[in-house]
Amino acid sequence: MASFILRKAEPKDVSDILRLIKELAKYEEMEDQVVLTEKGHTVVGFAMYYFTYDPWIGKLLYLEDFYVMKEYRGYGMGSEILKKLSHTAVKTRCSSMHFIVAEWNKPSIEFYKRRGASDLSSEEGWRLFKIDKQYLVKMSSEE
Ligand code: COA
Repeated sequence: MASFILRKAEPKDVSDILRLIKELAKYEEMEDQVVLTEKGHTVVGFAMYYFTYDPWIGKLLYLEDFYVMKEYRGYGMGSEILKKLSHTAVKTRCSSMHFIVAEWNKPSIEFYKRRGASDLSSEEGWRLFKIDKQYLVKMSSEE
């Protein structure tokens, strides 16, 4: 007897399921009536983070990137991602989550503020700086 695995379908099976739908329709001689396509995204949002340290407050979770595709916003996915990140931060003994938001990005600023975020630039006067590689090279080669 042939061996096989019977399991529940998963998002990654979408292509195969559509292939089988088409095969079945062909078997039924109605393949031209299958209008379904493989549109739709299985991965529609992501967050990238890492851990860093602040000498005053200790370990931090730094949220580098956070994005949900436009057509999927407003369904609570962003909040769920933040919930998961909060859980990770608490579990790993972080005292805070830090991130940068562009000043023009009012919807996200409000989104974060509604969840307890405070604006370090306006409240404490911190400004973000960088030193580009050319200056690093210059400084590093100075006598
Ligand atoms: N688009 C965005 N927000 C909407 C919305 C829409 N079409 N419709 C409603 N909202 C409201 C929701 O009601 C919710 O309000 P609340 O804060 O009172 O709960 C909030 O906006 C969105 O909550 P949620 O659905 O949990 O989050 P999300 O899945 O929309 O993701 C972001 C939130 C910030 C990740 C998402 O808006 C995004 O990717 N924005 C563009 C990229 C960006 O700015 N990233 C952050 C850079 S720092």
